[in-house]
Parts: sequence; structure tokens; C-alpha cells
Amino acid sequence: MSTSGVPVLEMRGLSKNFGGIRAVSDVNLSIRPGDRHGILGANGAGKTTVFNLVCGVYPPTSGSVLLAGEDVTTRSIDYRVRKGLGRTFQITNLFQEMTVLENVVLATAMAEAQHNRWFTRVDSLVSPREKAEKVLQRLRLEKTAYRTVAEIGYGQQRELEVALALALDPKVLLLDEFTAGLSQVETASMVELVKGLPEDLAVIIIEHDLDVVFGLVDEMTVMNRGQVICEGSCQDVRENPLVAEVYIGQKRVD
Ligand SMILES: Nc1ncnc2c1ncn2[C@@H]1O[C@H](COP(=O)(O)OP(=O)(O)O)[C@@H](O)[C@H]1O
Ligand SMILES: [Mg+2]
Repeated sequence: MSTSGVPVLEMRGLSKNFGGIRAVSDVNLSIRPGDRHGILGANGAGKTTVFNLVCGVYPPTSGSVLLAGEDVTTRSIDYRVRKGLGRTFQITNLFQEMTVLENVVLATAMAEAQHNRWFTRVDSLVSPREKAEKVLQRLRLEKTAYRTVAEIGYGQQRELEVALALALDPKVLLLDEFTAGLSQVETASMVELVKGLPEDLAVIIIEHDLDVVFGLVDEMTVMNRGQVICEGSCQDVRENPLVAEVYIGQKRVD
């Protein structure tokens, strides 16, 4: 069965109020396999809340979330992960005394166990270890495989978070400020890693560094005070006077 015509992720009229604050207001977005999509906006624009609504951290005030055409708005986080939603873990989820490889094997094994509860996978003959090794190779992290998390640098720990997300076989991966706190060298390495992600994987990137995001995405959405103020190619966004006013005028200086 071909699902190529169906978006991997759709947000329809997504809104979220926190008390009197309208954090997200009527966001519509359709993401297809292989899309690289950026979400830009100043601090407090509502970007992270959009991800939290997509993941099911809390329910939207109105609107819906669809994964591969299925409405998952009232479904659990776990269900959404099984349907192909991937998000980076926090570093606190890494096991510091275990090796990099062991961390990825564990994530892979847990994902397999979850999947197998629901259906038998065609590739279930591939062992978690083989799969983990492949993920590390793809992300060029194989040199760190036998080092403990505590021994590797901060930038590599952040890269390992991406490896863990990838081990769960996502169809769409959400990256929130994935270069925050990284040095220039670490940022460059992370950008290369994201460029090397599988071509058919859709990736949505929240990023405040314009240079980083312009180099990685084809399309972007700019938010301000919960609302989408501009959508389009990098060129469209660069040339949009409203964006310059509300976003670039407030660009964070780190
Ligand atoms: N769990 C929450 N409870 C109350 N207010 C929240 C919560 N999460 C976010 N907000 C508010 O929603 C708005 C958008 O926040 P956020 O989505 O984190 O913005 P961004 O990621 O673009 O910086 C902000 O005003 C923020 O204070
Ligand atoms: Mg945020």
C-alpha cells in the first residue's frame, strides 16, 4: 500500500491557551515524507508548545493532530511514538555509566518490544545491536560506541540524543533548539549530522539561529505570539518585512 500522498504529520487549526495566554493560535501545517521544515520565532512565540501538542504532552484547546492520516489528538505519547513520531530525549535520559552503544541498544530493544506487542515487523530479524550499530554509523558516532556517556563531550551527548530518537524508527523527527548551548565546532558537527539523516525521514527544526536553519530546511514557518505570520521558502522568509520586524529585530544575541 502506498501512503506517499498522505502527509506524515498534519496540524489542523491547532490552538492552546494557558490560562489567559493564547500560546498557540490556529496553526496549520502539513509535513510530507522527507520534508525539512523550520519553525522560527522569538522567545515565547509558541514553538515548543506546538511540539508539545504534536507529541501529546497536553491536549490542544482546539484543533487536531494527524499522523499518517490518522487523528491522534486524543492518543497517548506512546501511541504517537509507535505511529512514527520522534523527538529528541533530554540528556537526563542518557545512562551516564553505560557506553554510547549500550544506550542505543537499549532504546532499540525497548522500541522492538513495544512494536512487537502490536504487530510483527518484517525487519524483526535484525538484532537491536545490529540496528544500534547502523544508527551510530549513519550519524558518524561509531568512534564513540565503546565510550561511556560520561566520557564523551557535551556536543556528542546531544548527538546521541538524536541517535536514540532515530533508533525508534520515526517517520517524522522533531528537533527543538538542537544546537542550544553548543560551541561553534559542536554546532557544525550537529548540522552535518542532521544533513545526514535518512532522506525519507521528515524533520521539523525549531531553531533561533537563522544561519543554522537556513542551511538545513527548504520551507519554514515563522511564529509570533502564537500565530503563524509567514510561511514559505527561506527566500520568502528572508524577504518578508513582517518577519524582519518581529523576529530578526528581536534576534537573540547569545
Ligand atoms: N506549560 C505551560 N504553562 C503555562 N504557560 C506556558 C506553558 N508552556 C508555555 N507557556 C507559555 O506559552 C507561551 C509560548 O511558550 P513556548 O511555546 O515555550 O515558546 P517558544 O518555544 O517559542 O519560546 C509563553 O508565553 C509561555 O510562557
Ligand atoms: Mg521553546
